[in-house]
Amino acid sequence: MPLRTYIREMRNAMTPLVVLTEEGGFFGQTRRPWVSLDIGTLCRHVERAGREVRRFTFQDVATRAVDIHDSAVFYAFSQKENTRRYITDVVWHLAHGSNLLIPSFDLLMCHENKGYQELFRRQRGLPGLRSAYVVDSRQAAGLDMSFPLVVKTVDGSNSDGVFLARNRSDLLRIAGRLEPRVGILARCDLIRRKYFRRPRTYRDYPEYTTRQDYLQYREFVVPRRRLVVQEFIPGLEYDFRVLAMGDRYFVMRRRVVSGDFRASGTKLFDFDSDVPIPLLDFARAAHSKVDAPFLSMDICPHGDGWALLEFQALHFGVSALKRGRGCFMRAGERWQFTAGVGDVEAEMARALVAHLAAAGSTPA
Ligand SMILES: Nc1ncnc2c1ncn2[C@@H]1O[C@H](COP(=O)(O)OP(=O)(O)O)[C@@H](O)[C@H]1O
Ligand SMILES: [Mg+2]
Repeated sequence: MPLRTYIREMRNAMTPLVVLTEEGGFFGQTRRPWVSLDIGTLCRHVERAGREVRRFTFQDVATRAVDIHDSAVFYAFSQKENTRRYITDVVWHLAHGSNLLIPSFDLLMCHENKGYQELFRRQRGLPGLRSAYVVDSRQAAGLDMSFPLVVKTVDGSNSDGVFLARNRSDLLRIAGRLEPRVGILARCDLIRRKYFRRPRTYRDYPEYTTRQDYLQYREFVVPRRRLVVQEFIPGLEYDFRVLAMGDRYFVMRRRVVSGDFRASGTKLFDFDSDVPIPLLDFARAAHSKVDAPFLSMDICPHGDGWALLEFQALHFGVSALKRGRGCFMRAGERWQFTAGVGDVEAEMARALVAHLAAAGSTPA
């Protein structure tokens, strides 16, 4: 082995893995979003593979100013909005140093954010559907897309923010209904500003009018909701959840209930049966375009091929792994099914260690 390669590999092997969790070691998720992985066990698996692990919380970094540099940083996502923003601040702070973030900051942005996923997908050339990411219902109403369309809130799950608009009036109704409600106090205040304010003048702002100020204030305070509007694939009876863990692919088929087009959240699963080879090829190609050890993908048939509906690099459901019989792996030019693989922490550790070795975890 050339000396330079040897030195690089030695440095890579010595780069510690920093694991960042919430307080109390919470690192989502297993059974449900509020149930943590056993991060201690995961770390032990990584250590057994010869990689030093150092554990901290996000708070350690933010308040005790623990200095993390020249490290591979594996960190938890959160579905709680406040914690999510905190994690985003801490992780972005660490991104500016000499660290390798796992998953990448882009993938943190994608988490529970179907809007950013659209931008990321376009940038990475991930095959999806015709979609538009808009800031509110007014922009949705102005889109030039042909119906029927699917309207999605950016942070919904289990299909609870996914709706079908057959025509423009459906779209206006759905998008309007999805806007947050204006609270009673804010509404009273708007009425006061509109009807009961005495006209004023400001010497420094001669263009000021009460009416104009009311309109500007209303625009400022009325809450809005970002949406993804997407072409609709008619007649789907199921979609697939494919969970990639390193080179292992766990597959679950999810069926729709009759009269609905949404498969996510129905809990009508089956595992490992009739898994189309092209689906596995598609999932593998999509995973290869995303720099992450794990990737949970919602994939549906589309025309002659497949479309990636959404993806999560962490904090995903693990039913495909826990409840399936095993996983698919490449063996040469073919796919091979291996039964009896389904320990979440062991699989994640394995994929993580392989990812570190392949990426060359020595940061730039
Ligand atoms: N564009 C679409 N055309 C047809 N069905 C769709 C489309 N987008 C989503 N679905 C269906 O709705 C379900 C939920 O959509 P998804 O975007 O995955 O949101 P969620 O985060 O709620 O799972 C999917 O599992 C799929 O069955
Ligand atoms: Mg989904």
